[in-house]
Amino acid sequence: MADWEIQAKGRLAGEITIPGDKSVSHRAVILGAIAKGVTRAWGWLKADDVLRTISAFRMLGVEIKVGDELVIKGAGKAGLKPANQIIDLGNSGTGMRLISGVLAGQNFQSALTGDETLQRRPMKRIIEPLSKMGARIQSRENGLAPLTIRGGNLHGIDYQMPVASAQVKSAILLASIFAQGKTRLTEPSPSRDHTENMMEYFGATLIRSGLKIEFVCGQELSGRDLQVPGDISSAAFFIIAGLIVPGSEVLIRSVGLNPTRTGILDGLKMMGADIEIQNARLASGEPVGDLLVKSQGLKAAEFKGDLIPRLIDEIPILAVAATRAKGTTVIRDAKELRVKESDRINAMATELKKMGAKVEELEDGMVIEGQATLKGAEVFSHQDHRVAMSLAVAGMAASGQTKVRSVEWVDTSFPGFLEKLNRLVA
Ligand code: S3P
Repeated sequence: MADWEIQAKGRLAGEITIPGDKSVSHRAVILGAIAKGVTRAWGWLKADDVLRTISAFRMLGVEIKVGDELVIKGAGKAGLKPANQIIDLGNSGTGMRLISGVLAGQNFQSALTGDETLQRRPMKRIIEPLSKMGARIQSRENGLAPLTIRGGNLHGIDYQMPVASAQVKSAILLASIFAQGKTRLTEPSPSRDHTENMMEYFGATLIRSGLKIEFVCGQELSGRDLQVPGDISSAAFFIIAGLIVPGSEVLIRSVGLNPTRTGILDGLKMMGADIEIQNARLASGEPVGDLLVKSQGLKAAEFKGDLIPRLIDEIPILAVAATRAKGTTVIRDAKELRVKESDRINAMATELKKMGAKVEELEDGMVIEGQATLKGAEVFSHQDHRVAMSLAVAGMAASGQTKVRSVEWVDTSFPGFLEKLNRLVA
């Protein structure tokens, strides 16, 4: 077990780039692997979650070269081969759910597993629609991994998604590539659309209108070169550190600004933050820009409804911002946080309270009293990368020393996070 010792050392200043977007990197590997021809990706996230997805497709017979440039020799729609071992996706919910969609379309049997946290996460949400499409999926009790999937002979479905989940939506779209007929999906509110964007970038046609997607099944994808943008979910830790550590000024370069992901910028605007977007541009079908963040006072806000899926992964760090804001912040409609890498409502409430914050847990969110005087404490990651990084940022705004315990989980999405944060100490 690794720990971090964090001591506030004054203002943060300078320029940084952040690692590639995790969602886009997974999709580059997955779509590249099932497309015809070669896909090359730059700026991809070289972290455990994505490396697991790469190793899964290597086991399925796809040739993938890993370097600064990721080179995937696509197997095409009919080219995957059965793996001769259980595919282990480690900590990655995205890996497991999206790859299940691909495997549901294969005429062979596969077995998938993951680490102890992934084995606690709900898989019924993909088992149900993929089974309706014709896949036969077995799970441990109550829809938990390990899973075995026997696929093939799928047909498209009309599906009203019960939760706003890009992973569920993507699993169904990926399975539909191997199916016959038509798939029609309706989401309860908009979730990230990187799968749709990349499928289009790879030559597929999707009809998208509001919360609905229509896809004629069986379309073949063509591999392409792509630039992966920086991950706004990783940038969020530096955005909030820059806002709450007095005197700071941080420029974060090449951050992905897909509107389904920029809820954190909208949320911070509601808190009165002025974050400047510079150099806005498009990279391989995804909007990108540089973010200039200067420390400033924040005010409390209420976060709920359609905004929640657009900032779901940033709520742990948003909770840290709320402890410093003027007034009481309320977060609602975020029940999904309870089934992430940890129960993030409980994790953040428990740990921020140890640092002197006043946080009340709601079934679907949190109530956070602002202007807390944070003090260093010994806090725990709850085996969750984003909880660990959020607590480190809280430590940067606290008096005394904060010890964040069990931070090895950070390698799933952001190896070298603490070094990056320390390098900004002016
Ligand atoms: C992701 C979707 C979200 C998000 C996760 C990444 C993706 O999960 O929380 O970190 O890449 O599709 P859900 O689909 O469960 O909302």
